[in-house]
Amino acid sequence: MAKETFADRLKYAMEKQGKKQVDLIRMAAEQGVKLGKSQVSQYVSGKTIPRADIFRFLGEMLEVDADWLAGRSPAREPDASGEKNDALERNVPEQKNDSTVGGENMQGLREFKKSTKLDNVLYDVRGPVVDEAARMEEAGMQILKLNIGNPAPFGFRTPDEVIYDMRQQLTECEGYSTANGLFSARKAIMQYAQLKGIPNVSIEDIYTGNGVSELINLCMSALLNDGDEILIPSPDYPLWTACATLAGGKAVHYICDEQAEWYPDIEDMKRKITDRTKAIVIINPNNPTGALYPREILQQIVDIAREHQLILFSDEIYDRLVMDGEEHVSIASLAPDLFCVTFSGLSKSHMIAGFRIGWMILSGNKQIARDYMEGLKMLSNMRLCSNVPAQSIVQTALGGHQSVKGYLVPGGRIYDQREFIYKALTDIPGISAVKPKAAFYLFPKIDVKKFNITDDEKFALDLLRDKRILLIHGGGFNWKQPDHFRVVYLPRVEVLKEAAASIADFFSYYHQ
Ligand SMILES: Cc1ncc(COP(=O)(O)O)c(C=O)c1O
Repeated sequence: MAKETFADRLKYAMEKQGKKQVDLIRMAAEQGVKLGKSQVSQYVSGKTIPRADIFRFLGEMLEVDADWLAGRSPAREPDASGEKNDALERNVPEQKNDSTVGGENMQGLREFKKSTKLDNVLYDVRGPVVDEAARMEEAGMQILKLNIGNPAPFGFRTPDEVIYDMRQQLTECEGYSTANGLFSARKAIMQYAQLKGIPNVSIEDIYTGNGVSELINLCMSALLNDGDEILIPSPDYPLWTACATLAGGKAVHYICDEQAEWYPDIEDMKRKITDRTKAIVIINPNNPTGALYPREILQQIVDIAREHQLILFSDEIYDRLVMDGEEHVSIASLAPDLFCVTFSGLSKSHMIAGFRIGWMILSGNKQIARDYMEGLKMLSNMRLCSNVPAQSIVQTALGGHQSVKGYLVPGGRIYDQREFIYKALTDIPGISAVKPKAAFYLFPKIDVKKFNITDDEKFALDLLRDKRILLIHGGGFNWKQPDHFRVVYLPRVEVLKEAAASIADFFSYYHQ
């Protein structure tokens, strides 16, 4: 059934739930919601649309997202089997905002809707479960937030030297810098690239950004035409999928294989390449799995990119958060003949996520990407420059003693917290996990049969409401099955202990 108008979506949702107009009227009366027979019939026939509170009521009664019903968000509808669409399907363009829906409200006033460009954009790391947590906090409840990799609130302080140096330079940072960034910052990043063996990088090939986030958006906007495809991991850090989609591209997800330490499934990657594929994205070390890719896997990805003439984008924001004596390898160092873009920043390794400083390094065969680089430059110029005080401490941060190293060895916070959370969660019957080697995330698997879980977002909401713990369900990372969730293990062990006990208790009774 076409679902382009509100009336279509309403009828579709009613049909899926086996509800008739009289049922809606009866349910409204039971709940004290004013909803008359003529109103419902006008909605169904497409003559009028409801007010926001009636949208919410209908959404709840029909078990669909009110925003979807209103045509304001991508598919959150029951599929043919009665289950929610999986995350990959959520990314398939199928919803169109209908210009009549929300165009006028009941009072005849013009309403403003978000652009249809956002129709298929999903970013649940700050999505509906997080909204519910905010509502609960407003109502005075305390929530333990294990949903976002933000080190500062968990007592990870910026190194003193970084703060000192920023203070010293603050008065010199009042003006814009050049669009690609301060010379001193780019020089330090260039030297860092040399240490990592990234080839053919000049100072002009480095751009600072307001976090890696801004640069991901910029890179996708400059590259993708409507319908161009880009290979992105599943699970992913969802900003990649969101930005590719927003740019008009099609995010095609290749699977990372839990049975193989969460490494990219090379065969799946190969299968998904078409003549519209322009690039491969890797996230290494990985968010949300904490995997670190060995050289052999990276080499296989390079071989694929070489064979199909693809760009490599490598998000390496966690490259300095590696444990167990492992070494991080930049994929660009293995691909001097390909065009590569490598991303990193100081949000995680230097615990200054709030200062907003990241960068990208263009390397390898730049001849083939001259026009694309022109586009990157244009977009970079258009945002004038990134935060200058934060650029001023890149040189300090990247040089000399790296205080983060102390966190990553036995006795250090990140190491000890990983050891604790991995054991505590995998001790819960029905929960298993691959032990992460890097970053500060764990992506455990739930035995969905045991708990009868069919909807992972509902699981996250139920956990939040019962135990006041906020974490993100696997679907938030474009993971297809409802059988994973991500835990941020930044809190101290004492806090994680309480959280793990609550989660264990929750799984002792939970059944969907
Ligand atoms: C894989 C990955 N890339 C990029 C970012 C964004 O980092 P930034 O703070 O530099 O914007 C994050 C933040 O969590 C991340 O996990």
